[in-house]
Amino acid sequence: MQEFFMTAGAAQGKRFVDPVFSVLGAAREAIAKYGKDQVVNASIGTIYDDEEKLAYFPAVSELIKSLPPEQVVDYAPIGGIAGFDQAVLDFAFGKSKPDSYLAAIATPGGTGAIRNVFYNYADAGTKILLPDWLWGAYNLIAGEYGRLVDNYQLFTEKHTYNLPSVQAKVKECLREQDNLVVVFNTPAHNPTGFSLSKNEWEATLSFFKEEAKDSSKRIILLIDVAYMDYAGEPEEIREFFSLLTQLPENLLVTIAFSMSKSFLVYGLRCGALIGVSSSQRVIDEFMAVNAYSTRSNWSNVTTLPQRIMVQVAGDAALMEEINQVRASYRRLMADRASIFVREAQQVNLEICPYKAGFFISIPMDNAKEVANRLQQERIFAVPLKKGLRLAVCSIPTGKMAGLAGSIKKAMEK
Ligand SMILES: Cc1ncc(COP(=O)(O)O)c(C=O)c1O
Repeated sequence: MQEFFMTAGAAQGKRFVDPVFSVLGAAREAIAKYGKDQVVNASIGTIYDDEEKLAYFPAVSELIKSLPPEQVVDYAPIGGIAGFDQAVLDFAFGKSKPDSYLAAIATPGGTGAIRNVFYNYADAGTKILLPDWLWGAYNLIAGEYGRLVDNYQLFTEKHTYNLPSVQAKVKECLREQDNLVVVFNTPAHNPTGFSLSKNEWEATLSFFKEEAKDSSKRIILLIDVAYMDYAGEPEEIREFFSLLTQLPENLLVTIAFSMSKSFLVYGLRCGALIGVSSSQRVIDEFMAVNAYSTRSNWSNVTTLPQRIMVQVAGDAALMEEINQVRASYRRLMADRASIFVREAQQVNLEICPYKAGFFISIPMDNAKEVANRLQQERIFAVPLKKGLRLAVCSIPTGKMAGLAGSIKKAMEK
């Protein structure tokens, strides 16, 4: 039978099954049937404490309750409420603010920031360069707007950062097109927990500066820092930002900042797109096009989380209280991950280079099969194209021991 479409053009046949939420559904069914203690839910990318309760910052929750309605229910201006942009720039860069022209505009989460870069800086029908290990939504966002994608290999065979692959792919794309958006998701990459070091950033930036010597090209780096605040000591992991200076005018750095993880307010849908350039006119254009995109897509961004950002930025004690709790969750995930990494070594299970953060990935070709076998043992992890993703953010410490061995066995079956 011929398919019938009510939809028009590119929307025809548009459909997707979220791999995370389908595994999560299966995990929840198993919990209902066998009880929480009998199930390892390694699927969801939100932090759960060791009692398997969703983590949040009590100080943020108290602040929400204390805000007068008129500060919450009103529309926010298109660019964000007064002080939001500065609060984001101060928080995101810390002591490593680049010596460049900077701007920030509110977006609905990091997702909105990514959407705006893909739409405004990559032409329809041209390629956006993504890492091969990646957050799947990049592909969906690109597809929604008719942008094509290509991938650089994030790792060498020795599990180190593969700058030569980035270089080869960038050169290849720039032979075919004049505008190129290149995505980096670091520090604490989803789904591997990898982070580029400051030296690796130095080498990467000097390559891009060299490529930008061809003035007919426009190169846009999108650094997705969604998990930055769980990647290490806050000031240390921000140090690479100070390298974003003396950029050629045709090399723009954009940063997708997300409050979802940094302030544990995933559902409040707030983040920002930050622009870094050595050219004022590039930044003026950045604000103009992104304000237009805001108005035409979501009109303006939710006021409440912006208010939280501004209040916290203006209250050192409140900020410190949140920083302390955030650091405790970072240590919790590091402890969980260290159990897995140690046991993986003991059982000879190859894993992607994990440095920090919410996820660990195990490379394999048949992740779906392995994930199904693990589900029979009530272990629920997300199969990806290149491997299996384990969300250490949601597995209580007490359930980490033995997981590496179970995965190894499921791979050998
Ligand atoms: C790599 C990565 N980037 C960005 C985001 C965007 O998150 P949000 O839109 O909630 O800020 C996520 C969320 O899971 C993510 O995993």
